Amino acid sequence: MKILNKISQCRNNVKELKKKGQKIGLVPTMGYLHEGHLSLVKAARQQCQKVFLTIFVNPTQFGPTEDFNRYPRDLKRDFVLAEENRVDYIFSPEAKEVYKKGHTTYVEAGNITKKMCGTYRPGHFKGVVTTVLKLFNIIPAHKAYFGRKDYQQLVAIKKMVEDLDLDIEIIDCPTVRGKDGLALSSRNKLLEPKQRENAVVLYEQLKQAEKAILSGERVPRKIKDVAVKALKDNPFIQKIDYFDIRDAKDLKKLNDIKRGKDILIATAVWVGGTRLIDNIVICK
Ligand code: PAJ
Repeated sequence: MKILNKISQCRNNVKELKKKGQKIGLVPTMGYLHEGHLSLVKAARQQCQKVFLTIFVNPTQFGPTEDFNRYPRDLKRDFVLAEENRVDYIFSPEAKEVYKKGHTTYVEAGNITKKMCGTYRPGHFKGVVTTVLKLFNIIPAHKAYFGRKDYQQLVAIKKMVEDLDLDIEIIDCPTVRGKDGLALSSRNKLLEPKQRENAVVLYEQLKQAEKAILSGERVPRKIKDVAVKALKDNPFIQKIDYFDIRDAKDLKKLNDIKRGKDILIATAVWVGGTRLIDNIVICK
């Protein structure tokens, strides 16, 4: 496994691989790797000859009051896990390599990023989409792998690829969960044991809502009220940013539920000082 931290090293390696006709898979992450990240690596491993993993805690996607400094980091451990999972190249640059002094150009994916998490984290998706575009330019892979756990991010990245005619295939991978159902996330590390135990309420309420829809409930408001009450009743839930039922394609809110389209049930809540997100998609 080669560890790279300069853009020029990435470009040179990609050039050589492409000369040999090798298919390249890219897995962008912010590190502190878990089985969710590794499921993306495994998918890339299966479909491509060479796998690039990027580890970059992207400062531009954190707001000024958010947890950039607190975000879990352990590069040494990440390198071991990456090697065990047969990653070929790691790109783990310093922030100043990716965002040089005087950087002023950003990309936005439009309306899709203004709702849900975009409402509560202004500027977040601008930072995500710009950094992902930069990574696509630094490592021009054939395929890039993203998790459905960050559903809105996935939709925004697909939109950018479509709108900007990028020559890369986006592969989305299912959410990997712990034994109790909590979606794996680097931020779970920040939870105290009791908070961790109670955080499963997110998944329980998503499943409850899914069950209601599958049993024929057609009024999103009713489903939402049940979920919000259960979340509010849990003393470890500090705050609910949203619990929404939306069209999984364009993320528009649904006033009534008609089967025949994919339905997204998504939530973002604060467990103590840690913000967690999760979702379930019901396919038509
Ligand atoms: P990060 O949170 O590290 O996640 C990296 C990738 O792993 C994302 O595509 C995310 O959706 C996926 N992932 C995280 N948890 C997962 C889980 N439990 N199951 C399946 N996939 C999971 O998302 C980011 O980093 C950043 O915003 C990034 C795209 C790297 C841009 O900075």
